[in-house]
Amino acid sequence: MELNSIEIYQQAADYIRSKIPKEAVPSIAIICGSGLGGLADTIEGERVTIRYEEIPGFVKSTVEGHAGQLVFGALSGKRVVIMQGRFHSYEGFHQKHVVLPVRVFKLLGVETLIVTNAAGGLNQEFNVGDVMLLNDHVSLPGLVGVNPLVGRNIDEFGARFPAVNDVYSLELRKVAVRAWLDNPYLVNERKLVLREGTYAWIVGPCYETDAECRMLNKMECDVVGMSTVPEAVIAKQCGMKVLAFSLVTDIVKYGYPARALDIVRDERAGKEVAKVKVAETTHEEVLAAAAARALDLQILVKDIVANI
Ligand code: 6GU
Repeated sequence: MELNSIEIYQQAADYIRSKIPKEAVPSIAIICGSGLGGLADTIEGERVTIRYEEIPGFVKSTVEGHAGQLVFGALSGKRVVIMQGRFHSYEGFHQKHVVLPVRVFKLLGVETLIVTNAAGGLNQEFNVGDVMLLNDHVSLPGLVGVNPLVGRNIDEFGARFPAVNDVYSLELRKVAVRAWLDNPYLVNERKLVLREGTYAWIVGPCYETDAECRMLNKMECDVVGMSTVPEAVIAKQCGMKVLAFSLVTDIVKYGYPARALDIVRDERAGKEVAKVKVAETTHEEVLAAAAARALDLQILVKDIVANI
């Protein structure tokens, strides 16, 4: 079935309703980024899991470190659904598939969407392990047509031309700052630093080039990553409140690639060398940094959920 009418979303929502007890219908949805899906293991009491491939319209996520299921249950006493594993454009999915779960959550009655992701730090004041609250984004793919709202509008979900200048709820960001300040374990023992800033979305799967890093930096972006923006835009269109965090996994270096024209001969070493050495981002370092902070982010999200 086409994803440009509301029926497929309704079918998915009906399927989910048939699998979960009435009291498990969620009001908060949480999308977990790379290495951050452990939050689902902290669900209190009864939990129901539904694998993505069972649900009409859902595709199967392919990334290592993503489990590929919805987990329903209580977190800090609130009814939540946790997406353990999300869909990315770089997996080859159409934008409509990437965001389908968010619309299904809307039909289930979800009012608040919390999104976590792993991202590279462009802001040189940031450090690996910092957590940044998104207050805005730059959607380069969106500006040129990789946007989940392209295509026939489903009016039930919102306006054809939605405003997106306040996607990330100020009210929820305030709740997040309070939750962080009120947790001495996170602040003093774990030295968790909370930042706020702008997320640059790239489709990936390649990390940024040096020239792209310099460009994104000039655009006043603080971090760069491969997710979150499509889901946030769709949630905003249908009137959900959105809170999103980036876990900073590496800090980009504003180097320049070696220039063939600048190769110099190092007489002591007896060979030709480039003047500038560029630092590369690796998936392994991203996962390691995410793992090191995963528990802290879980605590923060739980404290926030308690106050929503
Ligand atoms: Cl897209 N770039 C960098 N440099 N680090 C990241 C990332 C991207 N996504 C997660 N960590």
